[in-house]
Amino acid sequence: MRRDVRGRVVLVTGASRGIGRRVAERLAKLGAILALTARSVDDLTTLADALKATGARVEVFAGDLTKSEDRTRIVSQTVECFGRLDVLMNCAGVCSFGEFSSSSEEVVRKVLEVNFFAPVEMIRVAAPHLTRSFETARDGWRPAIVNLASICGRWGIPSMSEHCASKHAFVGLTESLRGEFERFGIDVLLVLPGLVRSDDLQKHLLRNEGKIHLNFEGAQPSDEVADSVVRSLLNNRVERAVGFASWWVWFGKRMFPRGVRFFMQRKVWKYARREKRAGVV
Ligand SMILES: NC(=O)c1ccc[n+]([C@@H]2O[C@H](COP(=O)([O-])OP(=O)(O)OC[C@H]3O[C@@H](n4cnc5c(N)ncnc54)[C@H](OP(=O)(O)O)[C@@H]3O)[C@@H](O)[C@H]2O)c1
Repeated sequence: MRRDVRGRVVLVTGASRGIGRRVAERLAKLGAILALTARSVDDLTTLADALKATGARVEVFAGDLTKSEDRTRIVSQTVECFGRLDVLMNCAGVCSFGEFSSSSEEVVRKVLEVNFFAPVEMIRVAAPHLTRSFETARDGWRPAIVNLASICGRWGIPSMSEHCASKHAFVGLTESLRGEFERFGIDVLLVLPGLVRSDDLQKHLLRNEGKIHLNFEGAQPSDEVADSVVRSLLNNRVERAVGFASWWVWFGKRMFPRGVRFFMQRKVWKYARREKRAGVV
């Protein structure tokens, strides 16, 4: 199946920067009508103005997705403004890089709020509108929910326990909803990036004290990830691991899980040895 997004109303969360922003830019080029959301109004407005200058139809509905009233408002403003909602792209998220032993209940809850409860409740609010999009379609159109999770949702990476917990929960929910929403004509798609270069690592990471080596600067550009996210929507790809690192873990988990486990543990030991040599511990 090939999905044509021309003239379709797409709500993109996390559109102020990073992958969400790039996804919005690509969808605008494809002729989608865009509702953009995140908390940073100025960044959203700058993006919307740039896209409008190219002829795209774009509106900004800013809000904090961890707040119930904001989620409801963002979806109803989208529907009031454009008359319907055809696609929900769940791109917003945060990450916490650090060991469980140095974490806190506050961090775990914050990560779960943004990465799990917020998109889950966005889906709940958007689902009736997406169902209507299917019921009123005359041309075989199928609405979609695209959930941008992470390879952390398929394998527990050391020093990312809260993040992995949130993404595993999100992946599980996505798989359940795929079955449930089939009867409403809604496709539920999953994208699993590996390590992605952030526009602003300070904002992306709630904490940055992990004890394995991850090269955030040399990671995959968010432009490449956004290309894959949009391709997943257009080609109705149920699950896609994006980038070599993600694909390697995804494939390794199926084919040689002990090898992947060994590799992860080795990364932890290597880091500990380096710290010891440097006299940190
Ligand atoms: N970067 C990576 O290495 C990586 C790897 C795998 C998966 N992913 C996933 O991909 C998604 C996007 O990541 P990214 O790298 O693009 O991150 P990013 O550059 O930090 O962007 C995150 C977006 O989420 C929004 N956001 C965060 N908290 C929010 C809240 N409470 N309410 C509303 N919006 C909120 C941010 O906007 P405001 O701050 O303006 O609200 C921003 O637009 C996330 O789900 C992430 O887990 C990222």
